[in-house]
Amino acid sequence: MLTTPHTGLDPVPGTWWRPAHKAEKVWVAVAFAWCLVLFAMMPLWHWKGGQNPSGIRTRVDPRAFYTRTTEFVRQYKVGEDRGLPIVQPPAGADVYLTAMTYQWYPILQLVRGQRYRLHISALDFNHGFSLYPLNVNFQIVPGYDYALEVTPTAAGDFRIICNEFCGIGHHTMVGRVIVLDEAGRPLSDNSQARLVAGGTE
Ligand code: CUA
Repeated sequence: MLTTPHTGLDPVPGTWWRPAHKAEKVWVAVAFAWCLVLFAMMPLWHWKGGQNPSGIRTRVDPRAFYTRTTEFVRQYKVGEDRGLPIVQPPAGADVYLTAMTYQWYPILQLVRGQRYRLHISALDFNHGFSLYPLNVNFQIVPGYDYALEVTPTAAGDFRIICNEFCGIGHHTMVGRVIVLDEAGRPLSDNSQARLVAGGTE
């Protein structure tokens, strides 16, 4: 306990150097052990838990990726929604999605239970891919092709929210993924409304 003002230049008089109490040592040991557990969980989740998806990441020229996306759109376009093409690729196809200020291009239409290789990249700035209302989040960086093997497990009309601040129109950057059921039908209007309104499954 100090009785005189201390400048910090002289050693503090008192008993601060006394060894830590046993309880404190125990808690430091517990905290350290827990750190090791969490450290081990990272690779474990990667292999066991279906989390931390391992993308196939390659460098890509942003303009070349966008050109590839437009080619993909030209090949498989099936419709339009407010000027944005709706694209339905065949099962097993390479699927391209470009993030740019302030849209996700194009609208994807997939079929439940089919496997696709989804390529995502950005044309201009960092964007964040957040598939709503599912818990899928990752960063989309220009210059990197982030490819994932995906199999949609639920039919519905989903939204992609940009979760990385990218400019004045960031909050308007909402994309769309339609997942049809095995018979090629969309979900009933009722369930779509529920998804859009923010209900969880
Ligand atoms: Cu794109 Cu925020």
